Amino acid sequence: MAGKISSKPIGVFDSGIGGLTVVKALMRELPYEPIVYFGDTARVPYGSKSRSTIVKFSMENVEFLLRFGVKCIIIACNTSSSWALPTLRRYFKVPIIGVIRPGSRAAVQATRTKRVGVIGTDATVRSRAYELEIKRLNSSISVYSQSCPLFVPMVESGWLNGPISTQIAATYLEPLKRQRVDTLILGCTHYPLLAPVIRKAFGAPVELIDSATQTAVEVRGLLAWNEWLSTSRARARYRFFVTDEPGHFSAIGQRFLGQAVRSVERVNHTD
Ligand code: DGL
Repeated sequence: MAGKISSKPIGVFDSGIGGLTVVKALMRELPYEPIVYFGDTARVPYGSKSRSTIVKFSMENVEFLLRFGVKCIIIACNTSSSWALPTLRRYFKVPIIGVIRPGSRAAVQATRTKRVGVIGTDATVRSRAYELEIKRLNSSISVYSQSCPLFVPMVESGWLNGPISTQIAATYLEPLKRQRVDTLILGCTHYPLLAPVIRKAFGAPVELIDSATQTAVEVRGLLAWNEWLSTSRARARYRFFVTDEPGHFSAIGQRFLGQAVRSVERVNHTD
């Protein structure tokens, strides 16, 4: 039985394209694991939506991935992880990993001053998911959160540097700088691409936490513990499914994945 499960793919879903930062980390950490990615590009963004909508969409995304017999599911989307993870875990038997706990753990380990900043979408910040998780791990840490709604369109438009991007980042980060945080969680799939601008705009030494990397480490742990790691040493197969135009996804996706995004198919996943 264990042998069979080990050859199954890992399922990953996101509201759209940003989850490719998590796929990139998974490819690096687990190069022999096949991956099925689902990006809900027709309904993105999730970050401005209500809890009930985010939970409903996330349930549908899990149901789609289950068609592929996935051995576990990674919620690459911070917004979905913030609002939908407990419900998904109640409904589905497959192990589901979100990005909030791994990112929080890394921040708790990194902070020296016990002052942590979190940036994310409106919905992620509203959920207080990072704050609650960090407090659960260490109640003496102070957490300061800031939503940065312009960062997602900036990244998707390729505004990764330059004076306007730096100015926008500086405006968002000002309250966190005033709170003298020494660690900053990049609590959104898109933000790792803005790391240089964020660092520059912050203007003081700060440890940036990329949840994607920490999540990939956690997935490795889960698979190793269950003896579900792929035993194949052949090139892993990657499949990408989206609910809107695949061309746009492939073109912009390259920026997130750091390589060409091949075999992208359009699906109507609720059919
Ligand atoms: N993937 C989302 C996140 O990580 C960002 C894009 C969206 O708002 O849907 O929160």
